[in-house]
Amino acid sequence: MNNKVSKHDKNTQIEKYPDKDRLSLGAANLIVQLSRDAAQARGYFTIALAGGSSPKSLYELLATQAFKEKVDWTKWHVFIGDERLVPENHPDSNFGMAASALISHVPISNENIHQVNTAIEGEQAAATYESEIKQVFAGLDTAINSQLPRLDLILLGLGPDRHTLSLFPGKSSLLEKNKLVVFTNPGVLPPPVDRVSLTLPVVNNARNIIFLVTGAEKAEAVADIIRNEPDYSRPASMVLASEHTKIVWMLDETASSRL
Ligand code: 6PG
Repeated sequence: MNNKVSKHDKNTQIEKYPDKDRLSLGAANLIVQLSRDAAQARGYFTIALAGGSSPKSLYELLATQAFKEKVDWTKWHVFIGDERLVPENHPDSNFGMAASALISHVPISNENIHQVNTAIEGEQAAATYESEIKQVFAGLDTAINSQLPRLDLILLGLGPDRHTLSLFPGKSSLLEKNKLVVFTNPGVLPPPVDRVSLTLPVVNNARNIIFLVTGAEKAEAVADIIRNEPDYSRPASMVLASEHTKIVWMLDETASSRL
């Protein structure tokens, strides 16, 4: 199998860690550095958190005293990359997981925390979240294009079916070229609930993307995405590095075992 790494190889980095704890430590250190760089360069740090189960230990680590004191949380604007349309206290809520593991433990002001309103109908929830994102970026810097904001960092997971965020194979959400946020019904993997997700245009406009992937069950998907050309049948492969967007794959031993 050739060792083809995705396009813009110089902007795609692959980091392998012995286990999830050291992967979380590596990711936490990188996030602290990126937040400092962004705050120094622009006075704020905009991050979209990933859902699912993989990032939980990273969020818990960032909430420990050792990391809390390294970060100027007043510069953070936190978004969620995608959300299941369930209440925040539901076990499937991505924001609920991030809030209990990180957000509720660190001094980010409420007006800088941006979550999906899951109490309203799906398309409306997507539209409302999109307009909040645009408002935030218009407020941060009138000079930037708030119609297609550039987040400093987007954290992503990967499903065995090659989905990321809630951009599932065969769903129109993956093909969206104009909206920042879309409603989608569930993919084939659980939980079978409707979702709201950032779209590829927003993701591919970010300054930095970190794919956090652990577990042997992801190894084939990781190798497939990293080694083969982008293809809409494999959603995560449409997340593209460029001269403006750097991707770091942070993998544990098992998830990187097919590379
Ligand atoms: C979601 C997530 C999704 C997740 C992957 C990996 O809402 O389902 O955003 O894209 O990142 O499915 O999930 P795990 O980390 O639980 O394996």
